[in-house]
Amino acid sequence: MKTILQINSSLFGEQGQSSKMANDFVDQLQANSDATQLIRRDLQAKPLPHLDGNRFKAFTTPAAERDAAQQAVVAESDALINELRDADIIVLGMPLYN
Ligand SMILES: Cc1cc2nc3c(=O)[nH]c(=O)nc-3n(C[C@H](O)[C@H](O)[C@H](O)COP(=O)(O)O)c2cc1C
Repeated sequence: MKTILQINSSLFGEQGQSSKMANDFVDQLQANSDATQLIRRDLQAKPLPHLDGNRFKAFTTPAAERDAAQQAVVAESDALINELRDADIIVLGMPLYN
């Protein structure tokens, strides 16, 4: 089974033009492929935090010395990295914002 990781990033969520195009593309991809698993992330609905000092400190603190909040930060980051590594196909819904 192939895994598709789709990341939509429009400010308008599912109503964004780039989201609609990416969703259509993935629909066609799935219709023309054998079994696929889809992981769809919408950064408007569930934003990911920017790197700041506290997050950076969590990454650079040795695992055994991290407090609960730092452990949560690293666990979320590791999960996202694994999601990217495990994906066979990556689809990015990207608007043009200058
Ligand atoms: C904050 C913002 C900045 C934008 N900047 C540009 C631009 O520099 N050039 C352009 O051609 N369109 C620009 N647009 C228009 C968007 O590309 C257009 O609204 C597009 O539909 C956005 O994608 P979305 O619907 O997936 O969010 C901008 C729109 C927004 C909201």
